[in-house]
Amino acid sequence: MNKITVAIDGYSSSGKSTMARELARRVGFTYVDSGAMYRTVTLYAMEHGMTGPDGSVDVKALVAALPEINIRFSHPDPDDMTVQHTMLNGRDVEREIRTIEVSNYVSPVATIPEVREYLVDQQRSMGREGGIVMDGRDIGTTVFPDAELKVFVNASPEERARRRVRELQAKDENVSYDEVLANVRERDYIDTHREVSPLRRADDAILLDNDHMTPAEQMDWLLNEFHKAADGKN
Ligand code: CDP
Repeated sequence: MNKITVAIDGYSSSGKSTMARELARRVGFTYVDSGAMYRTVTLYAMEHGMTGPDGSVDVKALVAALPEINIRFSHPDPDDMTVQHTMLNGRDVEREIRTIEVSNYVSPVATIPEVREYLVDQQRSMGREGGIVMDGRDIGTTVFPDAELKVFVNASPEERARRRVRELQAKDENVSYDEVLANVRERDYIDTHREVSPLRRADDAILLDNDHMTPAEQMDWLLNEFHKAADGKN
């Protein structure tokens, strides 16, 4: 099989991470959740007093601190390399970065050009050898514009909020549907309107609207597209 590059982009909670991880597991590729990296920078900013209660971010301080932020992925399950825990300066922050508090600050942090540059460089070097599935907002447009397979995932905000509530409640996080829906809408707005690498479908990305698809149907569809792309490459 050809070690192609797969870029999966889309709106928040569209199920892209689940499908990207599962694809990587099935075909034996590396999986990278680029959103986890933006979440980790956000957590660092929150822990170092660089975020205000009004949603503001001290951009200058955060940009100056970027060289201090070391992000790695650890693999707690040797039989499944797609299970990843995000590490911030050697500390496992996988759980903390998924909270609604981090979700509320992550999109403003992700608008900062220096933050994007810092993370995009690292993402490109992770994908240098190919054989990678990366999900995010700008993977097909900016990080890997030459990816052999690009998918852009969407579903309605209401369906995405329902999925996110289920996910957070399964982890015992106490959140309301309304709060999550507001966060989903707010992030959609910021992500699509920012100046640097706004969320948009790359011209050559295949659109997947998964509102009415089960995870299994979605996986069959993705595997089929994957084989078309991977087998078509010489
Ligand atoms: O999982 P969920 O859809 O909630 O989001 P995520 O993939 O964890 O990404 C969190 C946030 O990071 C997004 O709302 C974007 O603001 C930002 N992000 C980005 O700007 N570029 C990426 N490649 C990935 C995430």
